[in-house]
Amino acid sequence: MIEFQSVTKQYQGGQPAVDDLSMSIGKGSITVFVGPSGCGKTTSLRMINRMVEPTSGTITVGGKDVTSVPAAELRRSMGYVMQSAGLLPHRSVVDNIATVPRLNGVSKSDARRRAEELLDVVGLARHLGKRYPAQLSGGQQQRVGVARALAADPPVLLMDEPFSAVDPVVRDELQQELLRLQKDLAKTIVFVTHDIDEATVLGDKVAVFAVGGRLAQYATPEEILRAPANDFVASFVGRDRGFRHLGFTPSDGVTLHPVPTVVRGPSGHESDPAAAGGWQLVVDADMRPLGWATPGTDTGLIPGGSLFRPGESLRRALDAALSSPSGLGVAVDSEGKVLGVVRGGEVLALIEEARQIRQAAL
Ligand SMILES: Nc1ncnc2c1ncn2[C@@H]1O[C@H](COP(=O)(O)OP(=O)(O)OP(=O)(O)O)[C@@H](O)[C@H]1O
Ligand SMILES: [Mg+2]
Repeated sequence: MIEFQSVTKQYQGGQPAVDDLSMSIGKGSITVFVGPSGCGKTTSLRMINRMVEPTSGTITVGGKDVTSVPAAELRRSMGYVMQSAGLLPHRSVVDNIATVPRLNGVSKSDARRRAEELLDVVGLARHLGKRYPAQLSGGQQQRVGVARALAADPPVLLMDEPFSAVDPVVRDELQQELLRLQKDLAKTIVFVTHDIDEATVLGDKVAVFAVGGRLAQYATPEEILRAPANDFVASFVGRDRGFRHLGFTPSDGVTLHPVPTVVRGPSGHESDPAAAGGWQLVVDADMRPLGWATPGTDTGLIPGGSLFRPGESLRRALDAALSSPSGLGVAVDSEGKVLGVVRGGEVLALIEEARQIRQAAL
């Protein structure tokens, strides 16, 4: 879909910002450019829509050399989201979102109607459409930025550190929403970040850039974590990479054990205070976990750890066990009802087994 062929960008004086870049970006996938500051990520991204022109080499989109398309037309055919959201401060949210469709000749009322639909798509309440960007939180502004980039329904979305200005919780939410959106939209997305975690969460493929604008590795996130191509990639990926790689190891073999539960009624009292010793999982009337209790003591409800859903990775299973006060990770179904518990020791044994299988395959 997007092809870089020996692309070099040299700004006036100094080293190349991008050095002989050749790579091919698949249609309908998320490709993440990641790397330290100044390694040429933004420059590479902006050459796709000709906000920056290469010094040499060729970029094609859908087989067509981008230099054969007038720059303004090309830019309008690709959604662009930048770090600061880049909204026009004196225009309402709805008018911001409608900007490109209006430039493309869509009527004002149609463009506004579409903009309002897009508020739903990115998870913003419709009444926010009348506000001005300064009246929104950072996370809300980023959502508007994404809605605006989607407004003309372009096949290509270019996103330059779109979530870097928001706190980790909102960032996680925005990432999950982008993945959810992408399931339906199947856009060709090029996403820039300097955060390897974000890269491995979002990317179908990840391109790691090294200083001097050289492509150090281009592979699936799983492969980059498992087998960094060189010392630079290994050090950039960091020392938690072994743990992060667990995020790609399926949890199929993990055993769910039954767990003693006790129902806490609406009054807040346990309905079965005389239950057996050891840990008890406290649940509501619908079997949703509320926390843990140790019968016979008066500690009350102890908050539980993270929850695990079968089908998720071993990383999630291990985290559920490690973060649980009982050492038992609570597994729930899609409705949040308790299915059973996983034991940390058993998850670790599966992790070791998966490692040995991988090793043997090399
Ligand atoms: N307009 C410009 N004129 C001259 N040099 C530039 C210009 N824009 C970028 N550079 C240089 O090109 C190199 C790559 O810059 P680029 O913005 O692509 O990096 P980046 O990977 O996006 O970094 P960051 O993570 O900090 O955003 C840097 O050394 C930068 O100083
Ligand atoms: Mg940049």
